[in-house]
Amino acid sequence: MTTETLLRARDLAIRFGGVAAVQGVSLSLSDGELRCIIGPNGAGKSTLFNLLAGSLKPDHGTIEFGGRSIVGLAVHEFARVGIARKFQVPSLFTSLTVRENLSVASRVREGAMNREARIERTLVDLELEDCVNVLAGELPHGQKQWLEIGMALMSRPRLLLLDEPTAGMGPEETQKTARLLLGLASSLTIVVIEHDMYFVRALASPTLVLHQGQIIAEGNFADIERNDLVRDVYLGRQ
Ligand SMILES: Nc1ncnc2c1ncn2[C@@H]1O[C@H](COP(=O)(O)OP(=O)(O)OP(=O)(O)O)[C@@H](O)[C@H]1O
Ligand SMILES: [Mg+2]
Repeated sequence: MTTETLLRARDLAIRFGGVAAVQGVSLSLSDGELRCIIGPNGAGKSTLFNLLAGSLKPDHGTIEFGGRSIVGLAVHEFARVGIARKFQVPSLFTSLTVRENLSVASRVREGAMNREARIERTLVDLELEDCVNVLAGELPHGQKQWLEIGMALMSRPRLLLLDEPTAGMGPEETQKTARLLLGLASSLTIVVIEHDMYFVRALASPTLVLHQGQIIAEGNFADIERNDLVRDVYLGRQ
């Protein structure tokens, strides 16, 4: 693992009418790190992802990715520079098999070398080997989510943004998702938005707490859990 800075965002801000959804947010992500973002409903977590993934343009602030400014690029160009995103709503091809879904996703990236090897590797990384020929629509909920992560990986991203990947999962699937993500990080950078404290605790990773559009705390999750301000605005309500 290297510690090169992959992404550096400075002083990001965006308003929706009277709401400052994100204000004065700065963050740096290193190559191969796993970072969690937590915060109460409406804190600005998904909006921050929209800014980092190019779906929204900040009113203010800069974002550098691999040393290059990416603010103002078109959404498809964000994907091309290596930023992939999994939305909460599943977007699988339900009448295709697991392998076919990965195959379709692998074609998104032109000139991808060694597509088959990449599909095999992804099946192993996400522990989907036993259901390669199952129709995606017939997978249990957890495996659907893992397949979606696999599809995002087929574009060979350097940064993967996951918005609430364990939504709707039971404890076992949640725990497994944590294990899978810990295995994937190091070969790419992953940022996870999550509400499930059980999951964030299992990741035991550097965590950033958003509240009313601002970062109110950051550090290891163990320290975050002990932070009085964080407990007041968020954890205390769990
Ligand atoms: N497209 C939009 N238009 C207007 N307001 C928006 C838009 N997107 C988000 N907001 C507002 O910005 C604020 C931050 O919303 P955001 O969705 O980023 O929160 P969140 O932290 O992801 O919350 P949740 O945990 O509920 O997903 C909220 O007040 C929300 O109503
Ligand atoms: Mg959200």
